[in-house]
Amino acid sequence: MIVLSLIVPFPITGAYVDPDRSIKLFVFGGSYVDTGNRDSTARSWKEPYGITDPGRPAGHFSDGQVFTEYIASRMGIKSPTPYRFRNQRPIKHGMNFAYGGTGVFDTWVAAPNMTEQIYLFEQLLQEKIYTRYDLKFSTALVSASGMDYRIYLARRGSLRGFPAFIISVVNQLGLDLQRIHDLGVPQVAVMGMQPLGCLPEFTRGYSYEKCNSTGNFAALYHNLLLVKKLKPESKFVVLDMYNAFMSAMKKFENKTGDFPIFM
Ligand SMILES: *[C@@H]1O[C@H](CO)[C@@H](O)[C@H](O)[C@H]1NC(C)=O
Ligand SMILES: *[C@@H]1O[C@H](CO)[C@@H](O)[C@H](O)[C@H]1NC(C)=O
Ligand SMILES: *[C@@H]1O[C@H](CO)[C@@H](O)[C@H](O)[C@H]1NC(C)=O
Repeated sequence: MIVLSLIVPFPITGAYVDPDRSIKLFVFGGSYVDTGNRDSTARSWKEPYGITDPGRPAGHFSDGQVFTEYIASRMGIKSPTPYRFRNQRPIKHGMNFAYGGTGVFDTWVAAPNMTEQIYLFEQLLQEKIYTRYDLKFSTALVSASGMDYRIYLARRGSLRGFPAFIISVVNQLGLDLQRIHDLGVPQVAVMGMQPLGCLPEFTRGYSYEKCNSTGNFAALYHNLLLVKKLKPESKFVVLDMYNAFMSAMKKFENKTGDFPIFM
């Protein structure tokens, strides 16, 4: 298991061995990686989403690109086709099963949870849409970016039982990663948790001027458990989103004021 920041080139073991065979990326998760699976009623198809890139709303939960596109471009391939468009667009670069608003467990969005997304992938393998050989040159990108925790806190309204819930999310996520690998994807990269306490819903109580330490400790605990769970093997890679977010925010830190993001 390798922990790396996104600055380090993305490792794609064996991917360039056969230049005639296109390498593939399979993506699972929520809004951080969805590139259009939600239907046109979702906010991701309305402004301001997409206004920076590609210049209009395109089903991405960002004004510009999402992680899927950064990773695909690092791998030298086009962003994989969203599952919803599998019959209209090329699938040789892989497929994106991610749905914005979903989590490892069910959320309040009626869309496939991670288990179901993996099941959709499995069905394509059964239908021989992708063969075992195709998967030989593939990587999976998996994102569990905190929807489960948002839902838990909103439903409970308190922190009671939260550590135990974090353990159950990481346990289920571990099973999901192993399942993707067992289906024949040689390398599975999972995004670690970003500093949850620095997201607007946590900073609102501080007039958006500092991060909530409870949220950040929860993210660190999630990451610690995840790194412990994935045995030190190259098949699993944990992307260090926590420090990637921190360093990005630090760049915009107000030099005159103070924004204690490490709190
Ligand atoms: C995922 O969704 C399916 C279908 O709704 C459900 O049966 C299953 O329990 C869910 N899995 C998890 C881990 O929540
Ligand atoms: C930080 O977040 C937790 C979890 O949502 C919440 O219980 C707590 O009240 C927050 N702290 C402050 C000072 O807003
Ligand atoms: C930076 O912080 C100072 C002091 O709190 C404040 O007056 C100023 O408006 C801030 N600048 C920006 C760009 O946020």
